[in-house]
Amino acid sequence: MNREQAHDILMKYMKGQNYITHSYAVEAIMKGLAKRLAPDDVEYWGIVGLLHDLDEEQCDWQHDMGVHGPTSVEILKKEGIEDKVLFDAICAHNPKSGVKAKTTIQYAILAADPMSGFVKAVAQIYPDKKIASVKHKSVMKRFNELRFAAGANRDYMESIEFTGLSLDDLIDVALEEMGVIADVLGL
Ligand SMILES: [Fe+2]
Repeated sequence: MNREQAHDILMKYMKGQNYITHSYAVEAIMKGLAKRLAPDDVEYWGIVGLLHDLDEEQCDWQHDMGVHGPTSVEILKKEGIEDKVLFDAICAHNPKSGVKAKTTIQYAILAADPMSGFVKAVAQIYPDKKIASVKHKSVMKRFNELRFAAGANRDYMESIEFTGLSLDDLIDVALEEMGVIADVLGL
């Protein structure tokens, strides 16, 4: 599956603009992480980011978080995709699916997902709400204020360390890569 096919599938199953822009943000961070961790697989890592929440509007995760991830796998299979690395990474981004992250790409998606929302939340406290205004130092400061963006799971973000990168690296990648597509993200 190339990026275009992945995007077509995403558009077929995801309609909410906030979910779509979140998918683009996580795609961007995953590509940035791949540049450092898996330079031959940048597009593939991007696809994992793009599709990680594919089932967001297709399953009742509000009632049972365990279905978030496995439902995306069912959808992809229905679309003719067979890719265990992709499937396991999608499930591992939500440990409540029962899949625990073990591989580099799985830890990367586990960490990239909350970091995308976290950086967005930090940008939104600036008067211009622009990611260009956000400094690395402010992200770190807010990271340690556990009541700020409390829904962004710090443990998941810190699990980036299992890839060999640091939390500082993840913040750098998120600011840089989300900054490149700031217009698309509305940031
Ligand atoms: Fe997500």
